[in-house]
Amino acid sequence: MMAFLIVLLTSLLALTTLPAAESQLYTNYYQKSCPGFAQIVQDTVTNKQITNPTTAAGTLRLFFHDCLHNGCDGSILLSSTPFNKAERDADINLSLPGDAFDVVVRAKTALELACPNTVSCADILAVATRDLVTMMGGPFYNVPLGRRDGRSSNASAVEGTLPRPAMTISQLIEVFGSRGFSVQETVALSGAHTIGFSHCSEFSSAIYNYSKSAQSDPNYNPRFASGLQQACADIKKNPTLSVFNDVMTPNKFDNVYFQNLPKGLGVLKSDHALFNDAKTRPFVELYANDQNRFFRDFAKAMEKLGVLGIQTGKRGEIRHRCDESNY
Ligand code: HEM
Repeated sequence: MMAFLIVLLTSLLALTTLPAAESQLYTNYYQKSCPGFAQIVQDTVTNKQITNPTTAAGTLRLFFHDCLHNGCDGSILLSSTPFNKAERDADINLSLPGDAFDVVVRAKTALELACPNTVSCADILAVATRDLVTMMGGPFYNVPLGRRDGRSSNASAVEGTLPRPAMTISQLIEVFGSRGFSVQETVALSGAHTIGFSHCSEFSSAIYNYSKSAQSDPNYNPRFASGLQQACADIKKNPTLSVFNDVMTPNKFDNVYFQNLPKGLGVLKSDHALFNDAKTRPFVELYANDQNRFFRDFAKAMEKLGVLGIQTGKRGEIRHRCDESNY
């Protein structure tokens, strides 16, 4: 009896400490309404990633940008209209790759055939991201479901809500801290840079015109800096030039990104900053030495990211198409 009471009390406490919206999400949310949901998303992302290997990293960044700015409501998927410049057309989001949007559209099309008007674009993006992270060798984590799609998307509101490579470590900590992330969670999430690309424009000032004597930023390993200079040499003619974020194991979700940082093999100024600052360096070292710990903390932080500012119940809508609101 006593044991039963303790279990009951603990469960009640757990429920009351969950934010109201989050407590309405369930991992088996579509079990009855769309039993094929998980399989359809899984099949779609697998096919897409095999044919377009940039999909995984692009989708992870897309999800991160959707959630950190105004919550995981799929608002980043909405297209601009003649009357409204949408979030996805904000300057910082222009480099999000088309393949990331496309994988969500494909899954939505398949899901609308199987179970019309049932699955939100926000849930598709959350699960597609998790499936792709796992497919790249990263950790599996639970994705509770039941998010509804947001109706508003506004480019001008985006600036300042997402991190920029030129920010100081205090500014980066502030951007993440304002959404409830600790310094350690901020470092764990940044481990996402173990996959994907950065355009040369994001770091070219550090490798070309760092100082008047045209040296590169001393935070770079000199051979790596000259490799980056070569890779980006044509940047004026070709603004799409990009390099891998994790030069050693670019296609594998692992902890090598953290091992690169002390060696000067980070690409962005913000990557270097994580190792250079005493507040973040211990966590970089922890994750560089212990991949299991990185995976555990990354998974937990992704679960937390995935419920930021969600809309449930009667709020929001189930969009018919991911790129436009129903009205
Ligand atoms: C610490 C703050 C962060 C800064 C300043 C930052 C900035 C950037 C920049 C400038 C790029 C290059 C984009 C491009 O040129 O196309 C990038 C790529 C990427 N970022 Fe971050 N990021 C941060 C944290 C995160 C977090 C927390 C995640 C996910 C949880 C993430 C996921 C990614 C991924 C996966 C890519 C590769 C995208 C691709 O290949 O298309 N980033 N990031």
